[in-house]
Amino acid sequence: MGIAIRNTGKALPKLIVKNDDIARFVDTNDEWIVSRTGIKERNISTEESALDLATAAARVALEGVDYNSIDLVIVATVTPDKIVPSMGALVKRKLGLPNAVAYDINTACSGFIYGMWMAEALMRNGRDVQNGGTRTNIINRALVIGVERLSRIVDWTDRSTCIIFGDGAGCALLEYDEHKTGIISSFVKNYDDVTDSLTCGMEYLKTPFTNEETDNPEKQALSMNGNQVFKFAVNAIGEVMETALAYAGLTPEDITYYVPHQANLRIITAAAKKFKQPMEKFQVTIGETGNVSAASVPMALYDTMQSGEIKKGDKIMLMGFGGGLSAGAVIFEV
Ligand SMILES: CC(C)(COP(=O)(O)OP(=O)(O)OC[C@H]1O[C@@H](n2cnc3c(N)ncnc32)[C@H](O)[C@@H]1OP(=O)(O)O)[C@@H](O)C(=O)NCCC(=O)NCCS
Repeated sequence: MGIAIRNTGKALPKLIVKNDDIARFVDTNDEWIVSRTGIKERNISTEESALDLATAAARVALEGVDYNSIDLVIVATVTPDKIVPSMGALVKRKLGLPNAVAYDINTACSGFIYGMWMAEALMRNGRDVQNGGTRTNIINRALVIGVERLSRIVDWTDRSTCIIFGDGAGCALLEYDEHKTGIISSFVKNYDDVTDSLTCGMEYLKTPFTNEETDNPEKQALSMNGNQVFKFAVNAIGEVMETALAYAGLTPEDITYYVPHQANLRIITAAAKKFKQPMEKFQVTIGETGNVSAASVPMALYDTMQSGEIKKGDKIMLMGFGGGLSAGAVIFEV
């Protein structure tokens, strides 16, 4: 039995911000940003909420599908519109998905990969009661959404981070299908971020029981040691690719197309080099999107599926890495 990717979706905010636009308010320039990251522009939400973006991406993936048939919604995000309700609950309500179980996960830029890993496991669960399996919700169709408005947690005076991130949403519709292979292998891994190389604090309200002097509120803005994260990313992407390939019993050559997290062009190039694969096999969208954290991989996957290059039987690997620290990879057959 297979857990197949039936369809994908993507949504972007209207405003496109070019490197030169950013160079107007921080000390940077297009040449530095392009050569160090590969980023030329990114979309920034002005009026679009995370919910607007998530539901717009989901609607694309759901075209022609009965909304009553959706059993599960997992939203991966570090920038939900609200803490309560979850983005999952908001998406379920706004789209009208009466039968869906819905919730959020946060594994930063690996969020979509963790969402896929979790959705696949849940979709296999409960199907084998006769052989001792669990009696539980049977999930036939699941939406896994990655959505971010990173522009709202970026310090726009910090040139080392504000040039990197963008906003958007991507989505995959997973479907139980006995006649398809679908997901072949998946692997996720957490690594302790002992040096706090990638963090975003949380500004809580004061209570009557604390005082200004002893209280130490954290600034709610992304903070990153770029060099440390870069080294982690290059190692982690290699490890998860290797493990997902080993689990699947495949070689790098067996993969038709690689869809990596779009954090830095140099990280993608390093992965291609390590596995001796041509760059043409890697989806590269970072130039136009920047790093959109949990939305990066599903947005890039949508572009891959729309490219006209992918055919039935092709094998695609999704790879993510990010804060936590966390990383993972999923291989599926189209
Ligand atoms: C952030 C990143 C692009 C920085 O590139 P780098 O080559 O490591 O650059 P450094 O941080 O060493 O900085 C080099 C110099 O450029 C300067 N610099 C930093 N940001 C700059 C900017 N936007 N414009 C111009 N100069 C900049 C630094 O101040 C430094 O100057 P100095 O040498 O005079 O001190 C890179 O480290 C990176 O992409 N890391 C991974 C980030 C990532 O993937 N994050 C998400 C994980 S999911």
